[in-house]
This record gives sequence, structure tokens and C-alpha cells, in this order.
Amino acid sequence: MTLSAVEIIGYRSVRKIRFPVRQLTVLVGGNGVGKTNLYRSLELLQAAARGTLAQEIAAEGGLASIFWAGGKNLSPDGSFDPMYRTDGYRKHEGNSLRLSADFADLGDGSFDPTYALEVSFAPAKGVAAFPNEAQIKSESLDWRQRGKAVSLLDRKGGSAWARDASGRRELANDDLLASETALAVLSGRSEIALVRDSLIAWRFFHGFRTDAESALRKPSRAVTSPILASDGSNLGAVFATLRYIRGDTIDLDRTVEDAFPGAELVIPEVGEFASFGMRYAEMPKRVFGPHELSDGTLQFLALAGALLSYRLPPFIALNEPENSLHPSLLPMLARLIVKAAERSQVWVVTHARELADAIAAESGVLPREVIRNDDGTWIEGLGQFGDFTDD
Ligand SMILES: Nc1ncnc2c1ncn2[C@@H]1O[C@H](COP(=O)(O)OP(=O)(O)O)[C@@H](O)[C@H]1O
Ligand SMILES: [Mg+2]
Repeated sequence: MTLSAVEIIGYRSVRKIRFPVRQLTVLVGGNGVGKTNLYRSLELLQAAARGTLAQEIAAEGGLASIFWAGGKNLSPDGSFDPMYRTDGYRKHEGNSLRLSADFADLGDGSFDPTYALEVSFAPAKGVAAFPNEAQIKSESLDWRQRGKAVSLLDRKGGSAWARDASGRRELANDDLLASETALAVLSGRSEIALVRDSLIAWRFFHGFRTDAESALRKPSRAVTSPILASDGSNLGAVFATLRYIRGDTIDLDRTVEDAFPGAELVIPEVGEFASFGMRYAEMPKRVFGPHELSDGTLQFLALAGALLSYRLPPFIALNEPENSLHPSLLPMLARLIVKAAERSQVWVVTHARELADAIAAESGVLPREVIRNDDGTWIEGLGQFGDFTDD
């Protein structure tokens, strides 16, 4: 299943936006316009499928921090101040967060579901929950079948039902806590699991830690790894899987050669651990292990691992992948991204115009500009009904 559109209402700098998502989506914009907030919204959709939504919202500061605080929250000098109160209370334009995702089934096109949820503080009557935790106010999974809307799962406040395997509505009121998503908890018709599994399979890459303690600098466990973990902790195993399981590292070797002329990626045979190193032309006798590589080199190799792995996740989101890369590597990164988009849906947010332009040159996919106005985060060219007017 591919993601075809997203709607976000009330998440940080995003007041209300709906936009289409393509096989390859490139969003470019300056600092603070809300690129990471768009990216993070997709992560929260995945958290809803995983059953970790309330945890993740709490971890990023709770609902008070994430609700869109625009409009009225201007301090007297006109600058944005999320803490500024005119009447002694925290002022929110909105008091709920709404996310929704439209999917398209690539198969016969008969399953194009929409998942939507609304999160808020306000407890439904008679619902037991902590006062400040995120609670699911409503949730739904709908699907259009031959033009007719079919509901697979529906929830409002304390009442919820999902269709069972035979298609009957099964009440689930007692199975759900207010902070739990029905998508994560309820099983029933296989279509519910299909949407959940698709969301869980998404991969997010938001920079890799490259400090001395980073997982990238340590050998990884010797387990066949078709896909890179979000923290890059299995990078050695991802490379070794290409070399010793698939038996083909042509693309990887070529990428390293293009990016670091004269250098060679060394992937030793897997023993107790899987690792990798770089050999440079000027010091051919010595292989430099991951603990010795520069931040930029390691960052680039991790991106290569993410985008060239044995298998690709159905959806890959990259947040500012250009960070700590030398500008000369951006065309190579663009090539990796475009190549990956032949195998998977890829979404990139970047503040590097050079990267966006290089992707456009390589693929013909033009970047969309993320901007921020009084009404929050917006994408240039987007019409009111969630389509690009120039499409
Ligand atoms: N609750 C909120 N309401 C409105 N704006 C917010 C809220 N929380 C953060 N922001 C704004 O979001 C911006 C950061 O967005 P971000 O997505 O990180 O930008 P970038 O485009 O640099 O990735 C900050 O400028 C901040 O003003
Ligand atoms: Mg950002």
C-alpha cells in the first residue's frame, strides 16, 4: 500500500494542511517553517499503529506543547511565543490534534483506506485516564468499495467497534483504554491489520548520531539485516547482508567510489559481529573502522545503507539528510534517493536547495517549497482542497 495523502490539524506550527504524497516527494524550506513538524506528524501516525502514541506525545512535552499555538500567541512585540498568555491561561487556537492518512492499494485498486484519529486532553464522560495524557477522542478506518464507503473501525469517546473476520461489527468498548489506539489494539478483519502493518513498516531517518558513543561506530550483531534500523545500529549487518547473502554490492561499491574517489568500502566476513571499514588510496595498508571515520563519511555511509539495503521499507522518510555532509556529496545523495524511489515511496524534507535541485535534475520531480505564514506551515502551490494547483 502506498500513502496518497496526509492531513494534519493542530500539530505545532501546522494549523491545518492536507497534501498529496507521491512516489517521491521533496519538500524544501528554510529553518523553522515546519518541515520537521510535517515529518514528525508521519511518525505519530506510525506511533498510532504501534500503540506508542500517548508515550511519544508525552516524551515530546505533552499535548500542551504540541497543539498549534499560533494566531493568538503573539507576544506584544509580535513575535511568536508559545508561552505568552493574554488572560492568565495558556491559549490554544485548537485543543486537539487530528491526523489522517489516505492509502492507495497498488494491486487491483479495490482497497483505498483512510485512517483518521483525533487526540485531545478532554476525557470522554466516564473515561478513566490521567489528566494530561493524550487521549484518543475519535478514530476511524474507512474504505471505499465500488464507490461505497465501508467503515472497518469506528470510535468516538468511550465507544468503539471494529469489524470482525466475517464482517460483523464487534463492540470493543471494554478492550480499549483512553490512551490506546484502536488501530494498535483491535484485530478483526485482515484489512485492519494490513493498514497497521503498512504503517509499522515505514522507516524514518532523521540524521544519525555520529558521536563516539553512536551505534554507527560499534560493530553490529551478526544477524542478516535486509533493512537499516532508524538509528543505524545494524549498518555493518546491512552491508554484510548485501555482500554475503545477496552476493552483490555493485551499487554500494559504485556509490562509495563516486562519493570518496580512491576509497573502498571493506566488508569483512561476518564472525561474532558484522562491521565495515574504509580503505583509502593514500594509506592502502590500513582499514579504518567505523570508530575512526569522520562524521560526514559515517553519515553518508548510513544513508547509503538506508537507501541501498537488500529490501526497502514501503515508505522511507528522510529529515534533512544533508546534515553534516560536504556539499560535494549532495549529487550522490540525490542519486541514491532517486534510485530508492524506484523501489519504494520516498519522502524527503530538506533545507538544502542544492539537494532538492539535484533530485529534480536526476528525476524530474520538482521540490515543493514549505513556507510559514500567519496561518502556520503551508506548502507553496497547495490549493484549499489539498491538491497542488499546478498538477
Ligand atoms: N505548539 C506550537 N504551536 C505553534 N508553533 C510551534 C509549536 N511548537 C513549535 N512551533 C514552531 O515550530 C517551529 C519549528 O518547526 P520545525 O518543523 O522544527 O522547523 P524546520 O522547518 O526547521 O524543520 C518553531 O519555529 C516553532 O515556532
Ligand atoms: Mg527541521
